Amino acid sequence: GAQASGLRAVVLTGFMGAGKTTLGRLLAAELGWEFRDLDTEIAQDSGMTVADIFRAEGEAGFRAREMEMLARLLRRERMVLALGGGAVESEGVREQLAACKDACVVYLSAPLEALVQRCLEQPGAAERPVLADRERLRSRWAARLPYYEQAHLRLETEGLSPAESLQALIALVK
Ligand code: S3P
Repeated sequence: GAQASGLRAVVLTGFMGAGKTTLGRLLAAELGWEFRDLDTEIAQDSGMTVADIFRAEGEAGFRAREMEMLARLLRRERMVLALGGGAVESEGVREQLAACKDACVVYLSAPLEALVQRCLEQPGAAERPVLADRERLRSRWAARLPYYEQAHLRLETEGLSPAESLQALIALVK
């Protein structure tokens, strides 16, 4: 199991709509670990929503906050952590993930159309500034793919229900 193998954290990466938060919460419950969401931690720490931070500090300001918050969270144990979809754009984030030996990074993948569809079905689309810029969405997704693929493991979720994805995720990390 995850405990027996000395794993300290599972980190979920992938584009918006990949299911990082939904599956992360369920996986944490399954393992008896804590769940943390990088976006939520940043919002709580700053007292601003993600959209507010983008407006006030620009995307660069948000990326800097992501990098800093990740460093704080990666010290924790028995944690499932959902990254934001764009966190891997920062070299500092990629370096931290590569250096964190006892954490398992899992890439939740799906075709872009399915990801966008899932985002639009969820409440809070307005809280996703990157989703609003539909023109740039495909190029951003394509640019991030090689970074997502640096994960240790990958789970393709297309055609899977959330329950099926969870079972597959548990089997991967256990
Ligand atoms: C972003 C994804 C969001 C959030 C922010 C920027 C992105 O996270 O970090 O809105 O650049 O793709 P989710 O992947 O949880 O939506």
